[in-house]
Amino acid sequence: MLSFIHGGDSRHTTQALPSRFHAQPPGSMTNTSHPNITVHVSSQCKSPEEREKLLANQRFGSVFSDHMVTIRWVDGAWQQGELSAYGPLTLSPATSTLHYGQAIFEGLKAYRHSDGKIVTFRPEMNARRFAASARRLAMPELPEERFIEAIDALVQQDRAWVPSAPGTSLYLRPLMFAAEASLGVKPANEYIMVLFASPVGAYFASGSAPVKLWVTDEHVRAAPHGTGAAKCAGNYAASLLAQAEAKEKGCDQVLYLDAIQRKYVEELGGMNFFAVLRAGQSARLVTPDLKSGTLLAGVTRDSILRLAKDLGYSVEERPISLDELRSAYADGSLQEAFACGTAAVITAIGSITGKFGAIKLNEKQSGPITDALYQELYGIQAGTKPDRYNWLRRIC
Ligand code: COI
Repeated sequence: MLSFIHGGDSRHTTQALPSRFHAQPPGSMTNTSHPNITVHVSSQCKSPEEREKLLANQRFGSVFSDHMVTIRWVDGAWQQGELSAYGPLTLSPATSTLHYGQAIFEGLKAYRHSDGKIVTFRPEMNARRFAASARRLAMPELPEERFIEAIDALVQQDRAWVPSAPGTSLYLRPLMFAAEASLGVKPANEYIMVLFASPVGAYFASGSAPVKLWVTDEHVRAAPHGTGAAKCAGNYAASLLAQAEAKEKGCDQVLYLDAIQRKYVEELGGMNFFAVLRAGQSARLVTPDLKSGTLLAGVTRDSILRLAKDLGYSVEERPISLDELRSAYADGSLQEAFACGTAAVITAIGSITGKFGAIKLNEKQSGPITDALYQELYGIQAGTKPDRYNWLRRIC
């Protein structure tokens, strides 16, 4: 098995790479289930007591597990990956990403079932979207099997970090960035894929309480032919000003309108949007379609579209105007709305406010259809409902 040897003229490469990137030390090993990853077990793993204490911290994304995976792309090829202690990367100030933002990421989760099994949820969807994001940003595509191998290796190694309390999981964050130290505005000659993990509970500090949305007419998230469908860092950077505006208005998240007509709802800063029209078995779920290329194709969104039909609701992927939402609210047919994503799972929307006025939904607790979908989706993920679509990948 090849171990990466830091090569070439070091003035032109990122001087970031701690010893984990260099020659394979004596304690390292490869595992037959992930042959493209050399494992260097950290000598500083948290003790079970420390880990338990950290697992009790419920603030999203604030605690990290013992290890991480890194895979370099250099000389036109993906190299042997390394699994080693979670720790900082040291970057040259000239690292291209820091200037021109060639950076993409993903988010998926590992769940612990009551029988001790650990699974991930539809990781191949994230692998494909990671590759699609890379294509859009002129970055090299990590093959699907290498993406999944990295996830499997990290979750297997850090399985003790997968929490067991209801609603918790180990959030997995794969990312890739241009690592060449160069000020040239061009695709880099070196990229690093990093994968690390964070035990999480609810994404929103308010837990599962409905969130308040602010419809911005000041900012747009994405324009046709831009990068809206890619999970790239720049989309999130560009959302922060509108997010601050939402906070100022007493809201939790922004609901964006389309860039051209400022008429159709698109998505939130980091979640997709669903509205529920009518109640009970005649309920219709509507969500913006993906044709404009400005929305992120959420894995949770896709799963909900499937599960909603199974629960007997009709689903529609089509443009939804803010005016339609307002008149559905006025005539009483808008019953519920929810946000969805890996981090947010399914979170009820309590209100939608903007310069037009306010739509007030279930402000205190989520509605029955939002709840039913959550129970179904989270039930599959957590192993309490049958995995009828083979969405779960057993890790250990
Ligand atoms: C996710 O849902 O995994 C995301 O990447 C969204 C981010 C706002 C945490």
